[in-house]
Amino acid sequence: MPDTPRTHRRRRVFRPLPLAAAGALITAAAVALPQLTPDASAATTLRGYADGRGVKIGAAVGDTPLTSDSSYTTVLDREFNSVTAENAMKWDAVEPTRGSFNWAAADRLVAHAQAHHQGVRGHTLAWYSQLPSWLRNGNFSVSELSSILKSHIDTEVGRYKGKVYAWDVINEAFNEDGSMRSSLWQTKLGTGYIANALRWAHAADPAAKLYINDYNIEADNAKSDSLYSLAKQLLADGVPLNGIGFQSHFVVGGVPSSMKANLKRFSDLGLEVSVTELDIRIPLPASAAELAQQSADYKTASENCLGVARCAGVTVWGITDKYSWVPGTFSGYGAALPYNESYAPKPAYTGLSNGLNPNA
Ligand code: G3I
Repeated sequence: MPDTPRTHRRRRVFRPLPLAAAGALITAAAVALPQLTPDASAATTLRGYADGRGVKIGAAVGDTPLTSDSSYTTVLDREFNSVTAENAMKWDAVEPTRGSFNWAAADRLVAHAQAHHQGVRGHTLAWYSQLPSWLRNGNFSVSELSSILKSHIDTEVGRYKGKVYAWDVINEAFNEDGSMRSSLWQTKLGTGYIANALRWAHAADPAAKLYINDYNIEADNAKSDSLYSLAKQLLADGVPLNGIGFQSHFVVGGVPSSMKANLKRFSDLGLEVSVTELDIRIPLPASAAELAQQSADYKTASENCLGVARCAGVTVWGITDKYSWVPGTFSGYGAALPYNESYAPKPAYTGLSNGLNPNA
């Protein structure tokens, strides 16, 4: 019987890889391995998926539940790697009286985030709302008002220098038709306040990413067109604008079909894009079908950002329906968040998880 042909085995000689090839292998391995943060949570949490793809999954945090509700912080710290102060960093909270500051709640949130390896989004510096009465009613001159805005930015951004990775420097500057909103800032200082605020924020913390944030700009519409034009001009003028925040306050079934393409055009300018205040309200009582649609909407909305270059992450505007701003603002609506009032994850949680999980 002829010998069973055997594969011809040569003695293996190990030859070191050329340096470039070795480098490529190491790089590939590094990219392939999940980027674990020091506080990396289980891979199947929102935070685990987000950490694995190097993006943020954040939540707006209220000071009351942060300091009084252990279920709230348990979910916050397990599921989220970023926080936004829902109200604690707004002007009326930090400087209720001119020159008299109250940083306690903002400091609490920053300290909590640092203790739990969470990033902090600063919210917000130049906005038409939640201004203290001394400012709203001060009837200041142009130069006085400009100095007041600069001092506010210097003080607040300076206080959290190195502790806030992104600031909503400008919030809700546009009207629905694309015209500039008639705010205290716009009316008195003109549109130039936007470039000045961004420059002052950059000087106060050069490492922080500086955003313009707004709602109803998720679709390609008159409002997002105007913001796009402004962003292009600011970049052309060398103004330190780093990103656009798409608040994404939706009604169930209302995620715009043009959202991904719209975010991409801003990303194509070289800007970061972030979903900054995602919630999806439902007319109450929410039906099973509406909760299922909400789940699909959470997945779609998160994928519309995460599928675009330079998407920095997704922040939901709260954790649980128990503390959502929605019922107090939109009568008859609620159930907008991933967890219900008893901290049970809703189908929305699964939708958001599947949006973050690249293997879903
Ligand atoms: O702090 C006072 C408290 O002293 C007082 O006793 C209480 C009752 O009057 O009111 C408290 O202020 C409330 C504040 O939240 C802090 O809890 C205001 O009445 C209330 O109007 C305010 O609502 C916030 C809202 O912004 C104000 O416009 C919501 O919690 C907050 O979720 C919401 O967040 C905004 C973003 O900043 C920007 N994008 C839209 C988003 C939803 O409106």
